[in-house]
Amino acid sequence: MARIAVIPGDGIGVEVINEGQRILEFLDNKHGLNIDFVHLDYGADRYLREGITITDDEMQSLGRDYDAVFLGALGDPRVPSNIHAKEILLGARFKLDLYVNYRPCKLLDSRYCPLKDISPDDLKFVVFRENTEGLYTGIGGQFKRGKEDEVAIEAEMNTRKGVERIIRAAFEHADKHGLTKVCMSDKSNAMRHGHDLWQRVFKLVASEYPDIESSHLFVDVLTMEMVRDPSQFEVIVTNNLFGDIVTDLGAQLQGGIGLAASGNLNPGNAALFEPVHGSAPTIAGKGIANPLAAILSAGMMLSWLGHPHLEAQIETAVGKALKNDQVTPELGGKLSTSDVGDAIIGYLS
Ligand code: IPM
Ligand code: MN
Repeated sequence: MARIAVIPGDGIGVEVINEGQRILEFLDNKHGLNIDFVHLDYGADRYLREGITITDDEMQSLGRDYDAVFLGALGDPRVPSNIHAKEILLGARFKLDLYVNYRPCKLLDSRYCPLKDISPDDLKFVVFRENTEGLYTGIGGQFKRGKEDEVAIEAEMNTRKGVERIIRAAFEHADKHGLTKVCMSDKSNAMRHGHDLWQRVFKLVASEYPDIESSHLFVDVLTMEMVRDPSQFEVIVTNNLFGDIVTDLGAQLQGGIGLAASGNLNPGNAALFEPVHGSAPTIAGKGIANPLAAILSAGMMLSWLGHPHLEAQIETAVGKALKNDQVTPELGGKLSTSDVGDAIIGYLS
């Protein structure tokens, strides 16, 4: 028995989550997983209607009453500040302490990779993005706002505990999955306080895993190397902002943001799974959004719930759909969002 909170959110979030849930329901029926879905209407419509993004009780309930949260996307042009997106998504990351942002970058079909001569074997790494501190805490301030001599400060917070637990999660993942390499990325050549902490903690944790090769790249070099030779990476661990940026680069390498899945995790405790893409308001409601990132995120959620073989099946099914051009227009195909869902269900049958 698993209870899943489903938050479709805004724009194409609704369409892609619908397909993700359809796949989950199909597998539930087939294998008797006993999944209970509870739909929650958090998003722009509710915010515009009631002036509420998400209450503290609702946030606590997400962590307490469910085995996982399945989120579509948040963002709506009618809410220019996107305050609801910030309070719901970043709110969940911070308030539920989902300190691991787990973002695999896996090429399922070479034709979708913008690099030349890259096979799926050359591109299968995972990024452990720190998800609860760094430059995302909002610590800082503005002084003389709007004046010619105004000052704006955004402080980067790095705690010993926060840095250690994400680095440890990366090594533990490598250890558990038989991987042999962990690369930490920072900018310690320029950022001498926070990233010196990353350097020291990384060396300390790495020393506990003598069988795993640890390496370091400054983040500017990391982006170069990801493009030059992505096969050198297995696990990358980095801070919140760098992780945000390098996972968009990674998403493009695996075929685009429409294929990038993610899990926001507090291991052993709470989890929120979401496609990395946004709400894409310009194509919302047209039935052409690519549901594959949501479907892969649903697969990741099944692993979290104890069914890794079903995640593997979903991944294989997505690989087949890609190979046979059963994709939406943005990937060069002719299928609608729900046609793609049908194709995946066909391969899972
Ligand atoms: C992501 C997004 C968010 C982030 C935005 C919407 C705040 O880009 O999940 O990668 O920067 O974390
Ligand atoms: Mn991002």
